[in-house]
Parts: sequence; structure tokens; C-alpha cells
Amino acid sequence: MNDELLIEAAMAARSACYCPYSSFPVSAALLAESGGIYTGVNVENASYGLTICAERVAVGSAIAAGERAFKKLVVVVRGGGSPCGACRQVLNEFAPELPIIMVDELGKVSSRTTLSELLPQAFGPQSL
Ligand code: THU
Repeated sequence: MNDELLIEAAMAARSACYCPYSSFPVSAALLAESGGIYTGVNVENASYGLTICAERVAVGSAIAAGERAFKKLVVVVRGGGSPCGACRQVLNEFAPELPIIMVDELGKVSSRTTLSELLPQAFGPQSL
């Protein structure tokens, strides 16, 4: 799978972001081992703390479809920022070495990293 296709999927998802409180859209596209692509958007709530990040929506959608193994994640954030700590932990459950591509709002890659770089010495299933 070409990175461009995954970036396009994440960019296309951006129009569905629900972020009336922050006006800070975040979208994501997660590539499963099967080849399936699962997108996510941030879903905010009038009770602000209940907001769900785009990355976790993408993971939940993929898991609900029966996926368990993942190859790559693209996250689209204004300025190209990286996944929050909670999302890093949730991603670690399924793909501790996951390659992650951060993209800005124009679709330009701002950085490429891996989950293990973002979340070293993680607590995961192997810790239990
Ligand atoms: N947000 C995400 O969707 N993913 C992240 O990794 C960081 C933050 C969302 C949550 C909220 O809707 C908005 O960005 C501002 O924090």
C-alpha cells in the first residue's frame, strides 16, 4: 500500500470531523494487515472531557470490523502534531511498532516515526 493512498484517505476523512468546541479537526487513517483502511475523526462532546480522538475512533472502527493487526497510521493535524498520550497507549495494545506518518492540513508529511519511538517502555499486554 502506497503511503499516498493512506494519506488521501485520512485527508478525505477530515470533512467529517466533529469539533464544534475546539475547531481543531483531526483525522486518521489506519491500515490493517488485511489491506483494509479504517478512518477516524475527532468526536467532541458538549461534556468536553468525553471527546474521543480521531486515532481512537479509527482503532475502534477497525477492531469492530474484526481487525487485530496493523501496518501503518496516518494522522492529519494542523501544523502536523503527533498523537496524544491516550491514543499512543490504545495503539500500543495492537501495534507497538506501528509506523506513523504525521501530515499537516495541506496533506504535507511533517514527520515519520513509530509508536515505539513515541511511547518507549510502554505498558502493554505483555506486562500483565
Ligand atoms: N485530538 C485528536 O483527535 N487526536 C489527538 O491525538 C490529539 C487531540 C483532538 C481532540 C480534540 O477534539 C481536539 O483534537 C483538540 O484537542
